[in-house]
Amino acid sequence: MKVIYLDENATATPSRVASEMASEWLRGPAANASSVHSRGRRARGAIEESRRHIAASLGVSSRHLTFTSGATEALHTLIGGVLSSGDHVLVSAVEHPAVWGALEGVGAEVEVIPVDAEGRVNPTHFGERCRESTKLAIMMAAQNEIGTIYPVRAIASQLGQVPLLVDAVQAYGKVKINLEETGATFAVISGHKIGAPQGAGVIWARGGAPFQPLLRGGAQERGRRAGTENVAAIVGLGVAAKHLESRLAKMKALRPLREELRGMIKQFGAQRAWALGAFTAVSSESDLTPSWLVHGQLPNTLAVLTPQQPGDLLLQRLDLAGFCLSSGSACSSGALEPSPVVRALGRSEDESSKLLRVSMGVETDPSDIEQLIAHLDELI
Ligand SMILES: Cc1ncc(COP(=O)(O)O)c(C=O)c1O
Repeated sequence: MKVIYLDENATATPSRVASEMASEWLRGPAANASSVHSRGRRARGAIEESRRHIAASLGVSSRHLTFTSGATEALHTLIGGVLSSGDHVLVSAVEHPAVWGALEGVGAEVEVIPVDAEGRVNPTHFGERCRESTKLAIMMAAQNEIGTIYPVRAIASQLGQVPLLVDAVQAYGKVKINLEETGATFAVISGHKIGAPQGAGVIWARGGAPFQPLLRGGAQERGRRAGTENVAAIVGLGVAAKHLESRLAKMKALRPLREELRGMIKQFGAQRAWALGAFTAVSSESDLTPSWLVHGQLPNTLAVLTPQQPGDLLLQRLDLAGFCLSSGSACSSGALEPSPVVRALGRSEDESSKLLRVSMGVETDPSDIEQLIAHLDELI
């Protein structure tokens, strides 16, 4: 049975060139990038080359990038490394669980910025809620479940001196993003969302903005992140970043397919299924090269609510038919919990457990979507 993978926001289909280069490093010869001998220097050189490719793809200086094991670690590092107990922090209601987890350990006063029924924020809410004790604001560039692109630049301009942390994990590799232009002070990305191997992420700090390291005890990454670097994953990320333009072109080509899918879901009728958010059309070129001043939509993501079908049951049935998709977030038992993101849109707990996320990738073709629709038609 052919498996149709439509869970690219969870982890992207590996890029062939990135995997090949990463595998070469995994095969050896042995090399620790901190060693001063020739092999160590070669590994160091490969890491620095990756850093340059990633910096170029993000429009920033490579000196301001720090490698981590992924975006979860990057978020924990920045949140714990910028905030102290008692500080005030503004956080959008739709952030990734990694953000909430990192905030738990800090003891800061967390003020949640709500979203409307379509998942949009009002940038002025950030400005209005800033006070002297506000030390950080957190807003993602694009939402992993509903695909909304957020006006991070408009938000940054509301914040004055308060630094903005942008989780750019889902935007990177799907739409053009120049971090300098977002107005953010800090940003994070993750390699496995753009076709690199799992196990490498990046922190960007504007102008080398300070933060306390989470992992200490080694001089790696200029003392900002101790621990032996994952050379293979970093090299893979560098290669994926080097080829980012071609990935972006393929993502752009998904726009009509997403719109077709949206149209087909509409034909099911609201009793059976509907796409979340009235403005979910990826209607213009500007959605693919966002200004970061207004809301937009990722070209590959469509969140669908299925009022008569519990998400986990539908997912299982689709899985049996060969489709890999996601719904809400899995809890420790593997069961599905209502999506906090859909809850933040003002939907009931019941509705929030009926989410089906379709996230397409560079290898998705129209027949995959046609088959999905045919199965959905049967199942719901
Ligand atoms: C928006 C967002 N932030 C952070 C993360 C965490 O990334 P990582 O898997 O690299 O830890 C994810 C991954 O699902 C994500 O979608």
